[in-house]
Amino acid sequence: AADPLVLFMPSGKRGRFPVGTTVLEAARSLGVYVESVCGGRATCGRCQIEVQEGQFAKHGITSSNDHISPVGPKEKRYAEVRTIPEGRRLSCSATIQGDLVVDVPPDTVVNAQVIRKAAIDRLIARNPAVQLCYVEVDEPDMHKPLGDLDRLNVMLHKDWGLSDVLVAQHLLPDVQKILRKGNWGVTAAIHRDLETSRPNLIALWPGLHNEAYGIACDIGSTTIAMHLVSLLSGRVVASSGAANPQIRFGEDLMSRVSYVMMNPNGREAMTKAVRQAINELTAKVCAEAEITPDSILDAVFVANPIMHHLFLGIDPTELGQAPFALAVSGAVHTWSREIDLAINRGARVYLLPCIAGHVGADAAGATLSEGPHRQDKMMLLVDVGTNAEIVLGNRERTVAASSPTGPAFEGAEISCGQRAAPGAIERVRIDAQTLEPRFKVIGVEQWSDEEGFAEAAEKTGITGICGSAIIEVVAEMYLSGVISADGVVDGAMAAKSPRILENGRTFSYLLHDGAQKITVTQNDVRAIQLAKAALYAGIKLLMEKLGVETVDTIRFAGAFGSFIDPKYAMVLGLIPDCDLEEVKAVGNAAGTGALMALLNRDYRREIEETVTRIEKIETALEPHFQQLFIDAMALPNKVDPFPKLAS
Ligand code: FES
Repeated sequence: AADPLVLFMPSGKRGRFPVGTTVLEAARSLGVYVESVCGGRATCGRCQIEVQEGQFAKHGITSSNDHISPVGPKEKRYAEVRTIPEGRRLSCSATIQGDLVVDVPPDTVVNAQVIRKAAIDRLIARNPAVQLCYVEVDEPDMHKPLGDLDRLNVMLHKDWGLSDVLVAQHLLPDVQKILRKGNWGVTAAIHRDLETSRPNLIALWPGLHNEAYGIACDIGSTTIAMHLVSLLSGRVVASSGAANPQIRFGEDLMSRVSYVMMNPNGREAMTKAVRQAINELTAKVCAEAEITPDSILDAVFVANPIMHHLFLGIDPTELGQAPFALAVSGAVHTWSREIDLAINRGARVYLLPCIAGHVGADAAGATLSEGPHRQDKMMLLVDVGTNAEIVLGNRERTVAASSPTGPAFEGAEISCGQRAAPGAIERVRIDAQTLEPRFKVIGVEQWSDEEGFAEAAEKTGITGICGSAIIEVVAEMYLSGVISADGVVDGAMAAKSPRILENGRTFSYLLHDGAQKITVTQNDVRAIQLAKAALYAGIKLLMEKLGVETVDTIRFAGAFGSFIDPKYAMVLGLIPDCDLEEVKAVGNAAGTGALMALLNRDYRREIEETVTRIEKIETALEPHFQQLFIDAMALPNKVDPFPKLAS
């Protein structure tokens, strides 16, 4: 009779194996990732699987727990010390006795909730670059004078198939002590990024060491966001964010570049500041998870090009002017100690590749997360900050550019703009008949009109409009006829409503008449028009490059996207016409991409390869950009139709 058929879920990989093969061996030979630290000694408990019972007619398999060997003494011993959840088995001990459908319990479920709520829940298959390998080393023998480390290497080869292991030098002084402390049983942390690269021994512990962590970090110009992840289970154990202290050297990217150019120690100071902030954030997530930073063995970073360079200690001056040359565009592999990270001394660090001088490793991370290059549909991915990074494409072809939107979308340059905090107006509706507003203020439960708000305002007071609400206010002003398609605040409306105020030669709209008057001025509207025209023109340029008239689906990455209502973004013409259902905010997609690259080195190869294929467009060099920009100044656009919006 044929050997039993084994199907692994959720990967769907299958094969036939002789009766008596361990489930772990079967998984290994099919390339199904199942963790193992103890090397099949039934002591680490990392190799758990579950048998699905029933008839799987489609696969021609009838799977049952009778087709797996009963719990043996080793497994029993483990279960006595550490509990195994109901229905789970140790795949290193359980052997195949008949046809089986085997569930490898779900890996990481990413809930990218770093800075703001965003709705991505997804599974990331695991294949981390760091692996823990327990070995039992032969005791020294005077007749075979092989060094302690060399005998360790023999076992790494014998039990784990690792050859030519490169030992991190800082471990050498401790090897003998560790081996003796573990009574010749030690756990080695092996880092191997490429399947073909030389394995690195980066850490060593006496006995069975059954935990390893990694961090995935997005270094933004204003915020640094971090996930702490168990590399053995794939679980995100803590996530947090902190302000980027480089803000004190300059609000936006270009002012930080000028700081470097003007100050002899500017680069050093900023590098030091960001590394320190990352170390503090690491300490914070570690404290939350009750582990020590020493348990962190791998770290993955994404950042925009300037943050990327400053983090690595590279002078970003070249990025301040054409041709915006990156010192390094490919993925960077380095060591924690080389860049002063307070994590395990042997830990490795990986930075995703940058796409172009303006489109950084953060955009690469967002690309990896959202995957335009994996789609049949035409996907537009935008990350709006002071620069908008735009990626457009599908599996055939992908293009990318950045567009200088300026800080208006973040509430800067807006007369009553402020950051999202209690007292800031976050949502607005304007009655088209009376021009009276209703709004929702951060810190106050319900929507309210001006009068109804009086009471609540006593508690909070209305202090300004938060960045993300600017889009909504201007869109509502447009929809209610306060501003024309050219973006002019209509003075004639003053006869109709006391909310239209005259100031000099232009008019403004009085949004809130309280202790502090909140108005939207003509200049505010202009600032939004300029920002949205830059964004749209950048997108349009990419659409023209690909020769497409429409996009099928839109992803807004970053905090900004989590706030704005896609309808309003379209009303103003920030983004091209698209089914509203197909416009989604994906939160910190760059950070999710970093997490994916941390948990699965295959994703590193995927993004490295994808980045080489992405065609980079420099908006500043495209003569047509100016015309697209001018057309996009109108609301929603002078030439482009928005049929889906109308329907
Ligand atoms: Fe360690 Fe199975 S591999 S318990």
